[in-house]
Amino acid sequence: MKEKRIGILGAMPEEINGVVSLLKDKKEIVKGMRTYYTGTINNIEVVVVFSRWGKVASATTVTHLIIEFGITEVVFTGVAGAISQDLNIGDIVIANSLVQHDLDARPIMKRFEIPLLGITELFSPKEILDSTIEKIDELVGNGSLIDLLSSKQRELFSLTSQKVVVGQVASGDQFFSSNIEKENLLAILPDVLCVEMEGAAVAQVCFEYDIPYVIIRTISDVANENSVVDFNEFVSQVASKFGFEIIQKLIKW
Ligand code: ADE
Repeated sequence: MKEKRIGILGAMPEEINGVVSLLKDKKEIVKGMRTYYTGTINNIEVVVVFSRWGKVASATTVTHLIIEFGITEVVFTGVAGAISQDLNIGDIVIANSLVQHDLDARPIMKRFEIPLLGITELFSPKEILDSTIEKIDELVGNGSLIDLLSSKQRELFSLTSQKVVVGQVASGDQFFSSNIEKENLLAILPDVLCVEMEGAAVAQVCFEYDIPYVIIRTISDVANENSVVDFNEFVSQVASKFGFEIIQKLIKW
């Protein structure tokens, strides 16, 4: 059997810095404008990298992880903008389904259909999904994430409680910053919980290479007119701490 080696991705330095600090026997390999950090976490081999923003950047990075580093599974952690009204800043979304909201080859294919795959959404494999849900539920349930924040930070983000929601995540090369953009998205994808710019691209590559994957997103903003301010504050103050804690919990035998 192939030895377990987990690829851990985020889209920005802030999303992986905490994770990099967990690495034992850390080495750096620079290729294609990315720095890949190899090492171990809890005695499990990992490769950590930030992909840069967007579908192309994340698809090429995860392909590199698979081909050059022989990773056997993928965990993506990062932030997202809430689309569902039920989500608040700080909530965690685990994607069981991923769709590329900007993929539209009509009238040749159905809206969102991935050419040649003939499907419009990708489903995270059950085993990795279930074990991730169980561990993140535990982490959030015992308050480990919220406890990392100062009272000032909790106040800033109105973060008094935190929940884990499992559902559909939409990815595309677009930063959402208005209610009208949200409404337009909900009109075409009514079940979407949140938006980001990488998950569905990573999912497509992993599906094509038969690599188990899971996408975990913390809500940094509610994708409205205030999203740029909330996003920047959340990324600089919280993303790295949450990334550290989430990965430390997940990467265990
Ligand atoms: N990632 C975090 N917030 C986002 C937003 N508002 N739109 C797209 N991607 C995001």
